[in-house]
Amino acid sequence: MQKIKIGVLGCASIAERSVIPAILSIPVFELIAVSSRSAEKANKFAQQFNCEAVVGYQNLLNRKDIDVIYIPLPTGLHEEWVLKTLAAGKHILIEKSVASNYVSAKKMVEMARKKGLLLMENFMFLHHQQHQLVKQLIKDGKIGEIRSFRSSFGFPPLSAANFRYQKELGGGALLDAGAYTVRACQFFLGNELKVEAATLNYLNFEVDIFGGAFLKSANGMFAEIAFGFDNFYQCNYEIWGSKGKITASRAFTPKVDFSPTITLEQDSEVFDYKVEVDNHFVNILNELIRCLAENDFENNYQEILNQSSLLQELKDKSEYSPLERG
Ligand SMILES: NC(=O)c1ccc[n+]([C@@H]2O[C@H](COP(=O)([O-])OP(=O)(O)OC[C@H]3O[C@@H](n4cnc5c(N)ncnc54)[C@H](OP(=O)(O)O)[C@@H]3O)[C@@H](O)[C@H]2O)c1
Repeated sequence: MQKIKIGVLGCASIAERSVIPAILSIPVFELIAVSSRSAEKANKFAQQFNCEAVVGYQNLLNRKDIDVIYIPLPTGLHEEWVLKTLAAGKHILIEKSVASNYVSAKKMVEMARKKGLLLMENFMFLHHQQHQLVKQLIKDGKIGEIRSFRSSFGFPPLSAANFRYQKELGGGALLDAGAYTVRACQFFLGNELKVEAATLNYLNFEVDIFGGAFLKSANGMFAEIAFGFDNFYQCNYEIWGSKGKITASRAFTPKVDFSPTITLEQDSEVFDYKVEVDNHFVNILNELIRCLAENDFENNYQEILNQSSLLQELKDKSEYSPLERG
């Protein structure tokens, strides 16, 4: 198979920790270069990952020897750099959340479609085998009919300098932790969900710090989600059915050497399924390879539009709490 030549736009922590090591573990990829606003950072990454250093994002896009750009920038910078990357004729793997709002997501998808280029959101958790096991248990009738879905993702405060506290960079708990819970609802209950009620709380920040929502689909299935940046750590979902319940207690961010447990409760019995360690970053990169090989771009566009439209609806319907700033 022909090599897929990839460049990284921004020396982000997620790139260093997880995505570049995953790229390097797949022989079909060739990491050509990393770019940064700073020469020092670009050189450090280039040395660490044995590739070229490029100073300035546009200089990376101008290169003719790169097919795919991985963009791990803060969400607020995505639209600008996605449009520039597509204009340069390159496929994109982009970090979640892809867009700050639905209009922006639509603009990016429309240009990707026009250019015939892949735009894939790096929702890696969907590619961890623990969720395939959950789907199989549901398919096998282990919990009967699904009655409801509940999910929480939140963690204690981050450092004050983190871009997640800056509005213009697309910060806020909804676009960060909340996006996982929204995506998980769609993964298990489908894309017909509507937001019935939502709340976003700002405390004394310019972005939402914690929140939640109640979502419902036409066939009566519903979901409750909660997320936050100033919360006791939670990273889970549970699916409650007519005959049982499934719980994933490390649903979104199991480390690549961690073996998560899926718990099935039925009557008075409890079964713990230990899932083998899995690298969802490698898995989504393999999915990217498949999409490129099969020209399967439309599903990715649709997923981005479905996700960002539900996030937008949640934001629009959120009742701003008395804790809102100003
Ligand atoms: N899929 C996942 O598992 C996962 C996990 C964590 C984060 N993420 C997502 O990945 C993205 C990056 O998150 P991160 O935690 O890795 O962030 P980070 O370490 O702060 O990296 C963001 C990078 O963006 C670049 N950047 C350009 N302009 C910037 C600005 N004005 N302020 C801050 N950074 C700027 C910087 O690269 P240079 O300085 O090199 O130019 C910086 O290293 C976010 O969209 C986040 O939601 C995904």
